[in-house]
Amino acid sequence: MNTKGRLLSQLKAKNGGWISGEVLSGEFGISRAAINKHVQKLRKEGYVIESCTKKGYILKASTSRLLANEICEGLNTKVFGKERIVHFDETDSTNIRAKELAIKDAPEGTVVIAERQTAGKGRKQRSWFSPPGDGIYASLILRPPIPPSDAPGITLMTAVAMADALVLLTRLPIEIKWPNDLLIRGKKIAGILTEISTEMDSVDYIVVGLGLNVNIPSELFPKSLRKTATSILIESGGNFSRIKILKTYLERFEDYYEMITRGQFGPIMVKWKEFATVIGKRVLIEEISRKYTGRVEDVDDTGVLIVRDDQGTFHRVFSADISYL
Ligand code: BTN
Repeated sequence: MNTKGRLLSQLKAKNGGWISGEVLSGEFGISRAAINKHVQKLRKEGYVIESCTKKGYILKASTSRLLANEICEGLNTKVFGKERIVHFDETDSTNIRAKELAIKDAPEGTVVIAERQTAGKGRKQRSWFSPPGDGIYASLILRPPIPPSDAPGITLMTAVAMADALVLLTRLPIEIKWPNDLLIRGKKIAGILTEISTEMDSVDYIVVGLGLNVNIPSELFPKSLRKTATSILIESGGNFSRIKILKTYLERFEDYYEMITRGQFGPIMVKWKEFATVIGKRVLIEEISRKYTGRVEDVDDTGVLIVRDDQGTFHRVFSADISYL
């Protein structure tokens, strides 16, 4: 760990208590002026550190940014967030950045995070509203030993991983809307964009991008989104720690991902169905070339929707927009 990191650990270890510049300078073998320079750097990263000539330094508040060292601290994973974390204060899209890294052989488990996206991408060429500091915009690089046909399972398990994390931390009533939207009381709180690159019959890489509206107040949403989108702040009335949510998500993600790489889709689908609201519902299905109405009979183990249309014909739906009727 570098000196700045060690200094931060010392400040954190004091649990809101003071630590003298003299003690720090003795411990690190550097001048008090050098200690002060590292304190300035930490302040620039968003840590609130007060100083007093007689008492030294005190950490008043941690940074609110999703910095790599904050993500790593106490993270209970083996791969995700343990390999490489790339943090941007601003970028066009974390999925675009993650794909660039994946092409350059970035390892599985790489996490790309942004505080703000200027061109956040949604499914079907839509955009993803990504204001600074209030959401989670995270893309993960995976290199799963599965055939491309099993890739939709990754999107489903991502939804389950985030749903699990949110229920655990917020106790809010999370629903999953097929295939990959997370809703609260019918409004969208999170979306997932999975992008895959294949080589012959195998997966080269998958980038799973997740956008979650955490502390976004309703007035910040564009008017066009207010009826359909929501945030944890709006639904719970309080601010939630983005870092806690992100870490819990990564931990749940890794657990489910290990199951998928062992070929165990079944238990994930059971969990998915616990959160899903779609089975048994009358729906309008909008595919690229056709629209029809019917009833959702089931979702199979690979995430394909089984719909019986109003004429009684069964359809296997791989990708579509669905609306509840
Ligand atoms: C959707 O519901 O349409 C999918 C939204 C996915 C948004 C996330 S935010 C992080 C990642 N980067 C992007 O550009 N998109 C995904």
